[in-house]
Amino acid sequence: MIRLTINNQAVEAQEGRTLLEACREYGFKIPTLCYHPALEPYGACRLCMVEISKPPRPARLVASCTYPCEEGLEVLTDSFAVKRSRRMTAELLLASAWNSMEIKALANELGVVEVRYQLPQEDRCVLCGLCVRACQEIVGVNAISFIRRGIQKHVSPPFRVSSTVCIGCGTCTLICPTQAIRLQDVTGMGSAQLMHQLVSEAQSHYCQVCSTTDLSAQIFQFEKALPNNLDPKTTFAGGS
Ligand code: SF4
Ligand code: FES
Repeated sequence: MIRLTINNQAVEAQEGRTLLEACREYGFKIPTLCYHPALEPYGACRLCMVEISKPPRPARLVASCTYPCEEGLEVLTDSFAVKRSRRMTAELLLASAWNSMEIKALANELGVVEVRYQLPQEDRCVLCGLCVRACQEIVGVNAISFIRRGIQKHVSPPFRVSSTVCIGCGTCTLICPTQAIRLQDVTGMGSAQLMHQLVSEAQSHYCQVCSTTDLSAQIFQFEKALPNNLDPKTTFAGGS
């Protein structure tokens, strides 16, 4: 067992545990967005920051979802630096996806009362990676991934065309905290030719876990989120 302190309380953690897991095991609350217990930690959102120190090393902030427990580590989950970092992160996330109920709730809980930034809302993806990891690690088909880098980084099927390995399970749409991905049933498109092409390209795909239904008539289409005319400050101030 690894011995460390969390908020000055002596605790023990199993080898290989992350700080987030140890903190939650002992009842210390830490907000997360890109973490999911069924997925490998990714460290993208930076909401789960905690302050660590191990004398003589100076204190610093780390993402608790990816940082492993270390012998003798002193962890603070609620220091001034931690709270300031989380509030700033929540505000930036909110600026990117101010219609997301999940992010609004997180920001509210962290005491964010104003959003000073406003980003265009046509793409509300916050690059948390939940959809990509769920598709890879849970569904096991790799129908989507991150493409490009820097400010052009975004989620897409390969070559930006409908994926032929997608089974239409909808996991990515369910796990997305910002509703940036939607599942579209192409049977409603009214184009027999297009439908025929899509189905013949996709062939027959069956969800191997939950279904014997042929899901090939459904493909994922990444749509730009609908523009919303609401002012972000007004929306958020309402807390809804
Ligand atoms: S589409 Fe949603 S789940 Fe995928 S990276 Fe963007 S915000 Fe995260
Ligand atoms: S939950 Fe740790 S970085 Fe997102």
